[in-house]
Amino acid sequence: MSALAAIPVRSPLPAELAGSTTVVVGGTSGIGLAAATLLRRLGGRVVLVGRNPERLAAAVAHVREEKPAEGEPLLGEAVLGVAADGADEGALAEAFDLAGSVDHVLVTSGGLTGAGPVTEVSAGDVRAAFEERVLGAFAAARLAAARLSAGGTITLTSGTHVLRPQPGMAGPLAAVGAVETFTRALAVELAPRRLRVNAVRYGVIDTPLMRGASGLATDAAMAAAGAGTLLGRYGTAEEAAASALFLMANAYVTGQVITVDGGQSLV
Ligand SMILES: NC(=O)c1ccc[n+]([C@@H]2O[C@H](COP(=O)([O-])OP(=O)(O)OC[C@H]3O[C@@H](n4cnc5c(N)ncnc54)[C@H](OP(=O)(O)O)[C@@H]3O)[C@@H](O)[C@H]2O)c1
Repeated sequence: MSALAAIPVRSPLPAELAGSTTVVVGGTSGIGLAAATLLRRLGGRVVLVGRNPERLAAAVAHVREEKPAEGEPLLGEAVLGVAADGADEGALAEAFDLAGSVDHVLVTSGGLTGAGPVTEVSAGDVRAAFEERVLGAFAAARLAAARLSAGGTITLTSGTHVLRPQPGMAGPLAAVGAVETFTRALAVELAPRRLRVNAVRYGVIDTPLMRGASGLATDAAMAAAGAGTLLGRYGTAEEAAASALFLMANAYVTGQVITVDGGQSLV
């Protein structure tokens, strides 16, 4: 790894998010967990949602360790968790109920459901991918649209593979592409309520999902594989999360899918 690749970079964080409450669907690992940690650092409240109860408990404990720089004007518990499938609207409603009042919703849930050669995956596998991605976004959007006040946001997740697909990813990527379209359509629909809807299209980000999918289990393997990219490394979960916080905070951005990939898609 070159000396340049090792320079730690801190993305600027929007202080306006202090005191806000965010439901993070997929907040128990990777980009979602990093977002929850940054929001807490800024003095926000977070409700983490993930399916695995042990991972949820560990994530809640991890985020609770984060101490905001400023004093705490917050009412109630600052870090909460709900074990739920994000595509289950009834179960997801519990997270909103627990939060009481919600300002922002970030959806980073989703994995490799439906992946495999098109001749080998079943219609059921692809249906599951759409349930996970599209119905997950839909459930979050329905709850958010009913409960968020003007100024609230919904931030969804995509990936650069929608533009540069890899073999065996047709099912999941069809669902991810639908999330991008959903983002734009929902932004138009909810604009009169002054709710904003955006998505982040990520390149390769160093997370448990990415390490598991790529087989790059060690830091050294990650660094070696990332060395050939434009910025000489893959993105960190924190950098990825910071872009979602930007979209939550900037009051004039809506209906956008912003690419955060370290320029990977340019070359
Ligand atoms: N990392 C990358 O290189 C990359 C690139 C492009 C796009 N993305 C996308 O970015 C998002 C976050 O990825 P990541 O790398 O941070 O993944 P990650 O480390 O695997 O985290 C995903 C989180 O989502 C939760 N989750 C998954 N399915 C869920 C469901 N149905 N309901 C509720 N929670 C669910 C997981 O917990 P449970 O399993 O316990 O539910 C976990 O907390 C994903 O949508 C991914 O496809 C990632």
